[in-house]
Amino acid sequence: MAEIRETVGDGKVLCALSGGVDSSVSAALTQRAIGANLTCIFVDHGLLRKGEVNQVMDVYGRKFNLDIRHVDASERFLSKLAGETDPEKKRKIVGAEFIAVFEEEAEKLKSEKGEFDFLLQGTIYPDIIESGTEGGASVKAHHNVGGLPEHMKLELLEPVRLLYKDQVREVGEALGLPSEIVWRQPFPGPGLCVRCLGEVDRAKLDILREADAVVREEIDAYNEAVFVETGVRNSEKSVWQYFAFLPGLLSTGVRDGARTFEQTIGVRAITSTNAMTADWARLPLEILEAISDRITGEVEGVSRVFYDITPKPPGTIEWE
Ligand code: XMP
Repeated sequence: MAEIRETVGDGKVLCALSGGVDSSVSAALTQRAIGANLTCIFVDHGLLRKGEVNQVMDVYGRKFNLDIRHVDASERFLSKLAGETDPEKKRKIVGAEFIAVFEEEAEKLKSEKGEFDFLLQGTIYPDIIESGTEGGASVKAHHNVGGLPEHMKLELLEPVRLLYKDQVREVGEALGLPSEIVWRQPFPGPGLCVRCLGEVDRAKLDILREADAVVREEIDAYNEAVFVETGVRNSEKSVWQYFAFLPGLLSTGVRDGARTFEQTIGVRAITSTNAMTADWARLPLEILEAISDRITGEVEGVSRVFYDITPKPPGTIEWE
């Protein structure tokens, strides 16, 4: 915190908060160091999970007293995505729109807050290594490194850049961030866009959000039981990432004696340590049964559920 204070001085800091562990810990740390000179923008692209907007606003706005501005840009993102089926183009649309919304909001904030000097980012050590150092081989271009356009002329502030993920979590716990944030599973920046295969629309997203909430509830409870048993979060027995996806397949079903032709939901639950390789989670059958019964019983428009039993490689974690 002393280092942040020294670097920033009386300067003003802007942050794009996603609710992920790294950006959350960076924001909480910076807020403790410089208080009201930190402003966070939370861009809601309409591709978030059920309850996520309220959770982020509740934790940061109310509990942490952060100056966080929620921007509901879902209409904008969804109309830009309309008709697009190519996975890479969908990702690019979300990325470009995100930057456009962020820049516009930053511009609006200037009249209230004055010029911003720094951009706060939750870059962690593996992001820097994976993006390659000067003269070294670049493994992959990470979305956290060098994400915003140069012309914004903001200096980067990256308070957790020398930490590994588990160290970032330790800092988060020390700062009193709730465990659902500190132990949050990875969630892609483009959100449900990559889990709603083919064309994305509101109706499909609503189904996916409800089904995903069931998967998360059931596996959160399973992980909690593993934690109680082992005393370790993210142990080898825990499920590392878990979600529903919508492959866009309609299939025949029977409901109340009548034939239906409705959406199919896929469930992906994997064990991993770093997402480079992964295995499908050997979940107890009762958990899979509960997930299937609940999704077909509670989510309107779904009559079939399947479980993906493909390791990575050859299958990636996400489907798109
Ligand atoms: P894959 O599907 O490549 O995913 O096995 C590896 C990890 O990365 C996450 N992922 C993303 N994260 N933007 C992100 O911020 C993306 O476009 C993206 N695609 C995949 C994925 O959830 C998994 O943890």
